[in-house]
Amino acid sequence: MSAGHNVEDWGAVHAIPTYHKAPASPRTAPFGTRERPLPLIIDSDPGLDDALAIGLACASPELRLLAVTTVGGNADVHRCTENALRLLHAYGRDDVPVAEGAAGALLGSVVRATEVHGESGIGNTQLDPAPTTPRPEGAVALIARLLAESPEPVAIAPIGPLTNIALLLREYPRQASKISHLCLMGGSIGEGNTTSSAEFNIVADPDAADVVFRSGIPITMIGLDVTHQALLDREATASLRATGTRSAGIAAELTDFALDRNREWSGATTTAIHDAVAVAHLVVPDLVAVAPYHVAVDTTHGPARGRTVCDGLPYRLQRDGRTPNADVGIVIDRGRFTRLLVDAFSRLP
Ligand code: RIB
Ligand code: CA
Repeated sequence: MSAGHNVEDWGAVHAIPTYHKAPASPRTAPFGTRERPLPLIIDSDPGLDDALAIGLACASPELRLLAVTTVGGNADVHRCTENALRLLHAYGRDDVPVAEGAAGALLGSVVRATEVHGESGIGNTQLDPAPTTPRPEGAVALIARLLAESPEPVAIAPIGPLTNIALLLREYPRQASKISHLCLMGGSIGEGNTTSSAEFNIVADPDAADVVFRSGIPITMIGLDVTHQALLDREATASLRATGTRSAGIAAELTDFALDRNREWSGATTTAIHDAVAVAHLVVPDLVAVAPYHVAVDTTHGPARGRTVCDGLPYRLQRDGRTPNADVGIVIDRGRFTRLLVDAFSRLP
């Protein structure tokens, strides 16, 4: 007990306005419809939650998935690439090209999350080999070519470290105008998950994230604040299995691996499907509520390295001459999110 506060009850503490309650605002991200599917490239480090994000994209007629590119993160980039090929094969989408990107950060040491996702990147799940192979041109060149060839701007959903996106902007600056939106999973207004300051995708390559947030390209930051509301549990994995599709069985197995780990680590009974929220935001226009923030990335080498410093307070922004450079995810309806995933995987092979 301290000063009359029961430290088990954080409610009283969180009632203190340590968070500026930014005004919810209309989304700036585009979204697809069945009549006008949104062209989309996913850049990913598959990854347990990446696998569900890719499945959601494959099952959504509101999206036209042009490619999946890979980056080192949850696991070694070669494993991520093989996982991407095998997941797309399992989802019946051998038509979607895969290309391999950066193995690690622009600068500094390589960061991995194999303790979370397993050495394979997909827990203990065994997927059938795919008949396809990665495109030899590599991730950045493939994205640049698809942007150049597309008759309309293309959305990109980076759901791993942002290294490939930073390299794209540096190597193909003229293609930036063909990117309609970056709907990225990463960052946090509040605490991180990899460190108390930083979320994994950002701290894995803070310099790349800095390039992206300074780029001027419209961004939605789907951070931990909203993804920690996007929780699946054993009831959800049972619902996935009940659909009877092999893809849903794979999603259930991957999610149960994360649930088992969370139960072992902390006794938690849920797991956040972070990456799928970034894709869901491009499919369902009113699922995620966002607010405008100026987001800056800490690229120093101190304890705050990789922190996304988010400021949504109008008077401060005006005082400092800054304007918001991202929509930041604030709220999601967990039940709708769960049903969206179960319905999507029921439509896959
Ligand atoms: O912090 C969550 C992010 O890190 C997700 O993209 C997950 O796949 C891991 O890469
Ligand atoms: Ca990821």
